[in-house]
Amino acid sequence: LARGAAQPDLAGRHVVVSAGGTREPLDPVRFLGNRSSGKQGYALARTAAARGARVTLIAANTALPDPAGVDVVQVGTALQLREAVVKAAADADAVVMAAAVADFRPAAYAAGKIKKKDDREPDPIVLVRNPDVLAEISADRARPGQVVVGFAAETDDVLANGRRKLARKGCDLLVVNEVGERKTFGSEENEAVVLGADGSETPVPYGPKEALAETVWDLVTRRIG
Ligand code: CTP
Ligand code: CA
Repeated sequence: LARGAAQPDLAGRHVVVSAGGTREPLDPVRFLGNRSSGKQGYALARTAAARGARVTLIAANTALPDPAGVDVVQVGTALQLREAVVKAAADADAVVMAAAVADFRPAAYAAGKIKKKDDREPDPIVLVRNPDVLAEISADRARPGQVVVGFAAETDDVLANGRRKLARKGCDLLVVNEVGERKTFGSEENEAVVLGADGSETPVPYGPKEALAETVWDLVTRRIG
């Protein structure tokens, strides 16, 4: 397949990538968060740019340098991420949701720092559901032929859970990886299987996150309508 500067197979395309992990604030100094570093999303943004795409990277709480030639939009919470993704997706040929989006957020935000009280136990944290951005953009394609890709980290029954998740979300491709010691969070490498809504299954051997990113763009390029 064509890739790299010589034959940029994503030239003239606009792709949106979300990366990192959302943080849901409890008070001005505390949040509920997750372990996503953003490295896989940044690798996707870099490789898409190298293949000629215009890239919008929606970055949630990452500590990585902005990739050259990529439009970076910083967000904090799931609600902010949703707004930024929906806006950027309006004219996108593909949307890749590599970000770890919090399923829930605290029902209440304390404007002042929550203080411990010596005379009683802490209050429980009440959570409410966040919108499912991937399901929303999959159901409501901003343009016909737009390709939507999700990511899923699973610990058990990886492929069966992945298939169910792909169907539930309604996306075209789901990159499923098993969460393990060397893999996924914060590491430079990844290993995955890319499941297609058409029944396809593309294994990606353990290797640099760039290699997985290239495979994702290969599969996306074939599907862009
Ligand atoms: N995702 C999203 N919005 C959410 C939660 C998840 O867009 N509120 C996206 C993620 O960016 C990822 C995909 O959905 O691309 C799968 O996320 P995952 O957490 O594995 O899926 P869930 O449906 O939340 O299932 P689980 O109960 O396993 O967390
Ligand atoms: Ca989730």
